[in-house]
Amino acid sequence: MMLENKVALITGAGGDGVGRTAALMFAAEGAKVVAADLNLAGAEETVRLIKEAGGEAVAVEANVSIAADAQKMVTVAVESFGALHIAVNNAAKATPSVGITDIKEDDWDLCIDITLKGVWLGMKYQLPAIEAAGGGSIVNISSESGHKGQAFQTAYAAAKGGVIVLTKGAAAEYAKRGVRVNSVSPGGINTAGMKFYLNSIDEDIRQQTLNTNAFGRFAEPEEIANVVMFLGSDKSSYVTGDDYKVDGGVSIKSYLL
Ligand SMILES: NC(=O)c1ccc[n+]([C@@H]2O[C@H](COP(=O)([O-])OP(=O)(O)OC[C@H]3O[C@@H](n4cnc5c(N)ncnc54)[C@H](O)[C@@H]3O)[C@@H](O)[C@H]2O)c1
Repeated sequence: MMLENKVALITGAGGDGVGRTAALMFAAEGAKVVAADLNLAGAEETVRLIKEAGGEAVAVEANVSIAADAQKMVTVAVESFGALHIAVNNAAKATPSVGITDIKEDDWDLCIDITLKGVWLGMKYQLPAIEAAGGGSIVNISSESGHKGQAFQTAYAAAKGGVIVLTKGAAAEYAKRGVRVNSVSPGGINTAGMKFYLNSIDEDIRQQTLNTNAFGRFAEPEEIANVVMFLGSDKSSYVTGDDYKVDGGVSIKSYLL
């Protein structure tokens, strides 16, 4: 199995999206999983699903934007499973969709605190623990919007752009210390929230939205988690400081097709 004898911490693992999907896939490949989420009941459900499938996991209630919680996630991994080898910093929060001049300062702060500061705080405690374990890998989840910017989600896009650059600096500092750090930038993902949104808009707008990528469809969470798993595993041993776009070919999309 790809992740046998590895301990993996995943934030935002209590929802129905990439976090839980990656947690289940990591566990199926032999990793012992720490499922962290602000929503403890959601993280516990992820753990229940992992155990039901024969895997090992523990849930932890944690707000990634609080230093003590970021430290607690790592402590739980080490105390429960003896070490930490892989971390996926997946939790994020957008603002309400409004123009840049209408963003409320509190919404800006909350978005940046969770989406950008949360990734830094996560790595602050994960990097020394992974180094102490003899090395491993961190995967930070960015977004297509971190490359392109995003109208009406400017704070979120700025935070995601920050995640890509933060990843590169951390990777440079830790390459010779055994820890690889990369980011993954998804495009639209078929989470329950996204399906609800797509079902709430007119058919022509839905088709235009889906046609922003080359496939004309959004990703299943598994299609993002597969790349996260590759980067988290030793299969990507010569990859660090990179960003993997998993956006269905947004940049090569032609208006003719
Ligand atoms: N959904 C998309 O279309 C999309 C597109 C591009 C990028 N992304 C990014 O991909 C990642 C996964 O997104 P997803 O939609 O699959 O969601 P997800 O289900 O993987 O993650 C959401 C979970 O994060 C938790 N969370 C929120 N704030 C938290 C905090 N402060 N501390 C700890 N946990 C917290 C929530 O409780 C929820 O359970 C995110 O980083 C997101 O920004 C998503």
